[in-house]
This record gives sequence, structure tokens and C-alpha cells, in this order.
Amino acid sequence: MNKRGRFITFEGIDGSGKSTQISLLKKHIEQCDASCYETLEPSGGPVGAMLRQCLSGRMKTDEKTLAALFAADRLDHLLNENDGICSKIEQGINVICDRYILSSYAYQSVRVPLDWVMQLNEQAIQTLKPDCHIFIDVTPDTALERMAQGRFHKDLFETKERLTEVRQRYLELIDTLQEKETIFIIDGNQTIEKISADIWNKVQHFFL
Ligand code: ADP
Ligand code: TYD
Repeated sequence: MNKRGRFITFEGIDGSGKSTQISLLKKHIEQCDASCYETLEPSGGPVGAMLRQCLSGRMKTDEKTLAALFAADRLDHLLNENDGICSKIEQGINVICDRYILSSYAYQSVRVPLDWVMQLNEQAIQTLKPDCHIFIDVTPDTALERMAQGRFHKDLFETKERLTEVRQRYLELIDTLQEKETIFIIDGNQTIEKISADIWNKVQHFFL
């Protein structure tokens, strides 16, 4: 029987360096002769497509509806028969996901009660709990500077005020969830190479 794959999620405010670090972690995992599938939320599925329109401003909606859409997209991302994460894990493929439940807790709870956001995500966490969550911590100023260099368009939550609130919520949540979940806080204000080494240090035991 196949060994189950590992499930590692990346968290952080927009522009914290998640996708940069995910590519580097994938290389490390593959160097250990292990398979690795990289994915992200909002997902590439139909609810994810709707969410991207809401985030870019092309489609207008309220924050309660957004919270429900993020939770629905997450379940579809886990369970859909086309490229669902659960079936990859069952096949022994390691999966790295850019954002998971902590993103909903931190971003949506700024405008919607946290208890309700947690209830909405209960099915997802019962279906698949990450082996660990990696939170890349950067200051909102650093994240905004990095984003300004690489892009022209600002998504819905990419303001200093919102990112400051979201980062604060992440830190509070990590503190309260520490006993239930394995969450590593990584200092994201360092060089790309040093951050990558810090992350590998935390997760290499899964693959060696
Ligand atoms: P995210 O996926 O969290 O939005 P990215 O990985 O896309 O973040 O990084 C945002 C920008 O910052 C990119 O242009 C990337 O090259 C740059 N970047 C990422 N990590 C660092 C770092 N440690 N130091 C300086 N720039 C970085
Ligand atoms: P993403 O494309 O990962 O942005 P970035 O690469 O800049 O970090 O995520 C899109 C936006 O969606 C981001 O602002 C965070 C937000 N988001 C939520 O508010 N709740 C969620 O559950 C998820 C998955 C993302």
C-alpha cells in the first residue's frame, strides 16, 4: 500500500514571499526523490475563478458571501474528482498549498465573526489537516514594497491597513491554535536563501 503524501500549507500576508518559497521547497523535496504537487487557493476550480473576479474588483460582493465562497472553494479543491488534493495525498503525492484555512481565519475575521468563519471551515479541516502550516512573517511595509516592484494592479485586501490587521490576526490565531495545529513562524524579512534554509530545517524530517 502507498504511504500517504504529506500536506504542507503556506500562510502569510500578500507579498510575504510564499510562492517564491514554495518553488524552493518543491525543489528540496524532489531532490529527496519524493513527488511534489504545488497548488494554491483560491483554487483553479470554478469557485476559485469567481473569487478571483471578486478580489480584482471585476465582480462585487459582500464579505460574508466571500467567506462562504472561500470555504466552498476549499472543499472543492480538496474533493473534486479532476485534481482534488485528497486523492493526490491518498496516492502518496506530497502536496504544498499556497494558503489554506488560516488565510480564511485571518483575512475574513477582520469583517466577519471568527467563530462563523471557523464553522464554515470545519468540514475542510476534518477532511484534511495539514502536517504543518508555515507562516512567513513580514511587515506590511516590506510586503507592499515587494508587491509594488512586481505588479501594477492591487487586489481587494492589498492595503496597508488591511494587511496590518490581517498580520495581527495571524499572530493571535497562531498563538491560540498552537496546541491543535503544527504551525511554524518563519522570519520572512531575511534573504530568500536564508528563509528557504529555515523552512527546510523545519520540514526535512518528513522527507529524509
Ligand atoms: P506571495 O506569493 O506571498 O505573494 P511572492 O513569492 O510572489 O509572494 O513574492 C513577492 C515579491 O517579492 C516577488 O517579486 C519576489 O521576487 C519578492 N521576494 C520574495 N521573497 C523575497 C525576499 N526574501 N527578499 C526580497 N524579495 C523577495
Ligand atoms: P493570493 O493570490 O495568494 O495573493 P498573494 O499571492 O498576494 O498572497 O491570494 C489572493 C487573496 O485572497 C489574498 O489577498 C488573500 C485572500 N484570501 C482570503 O481572504 N481568504 C482565503 O481563504 C484565501 C485562500 C485567500
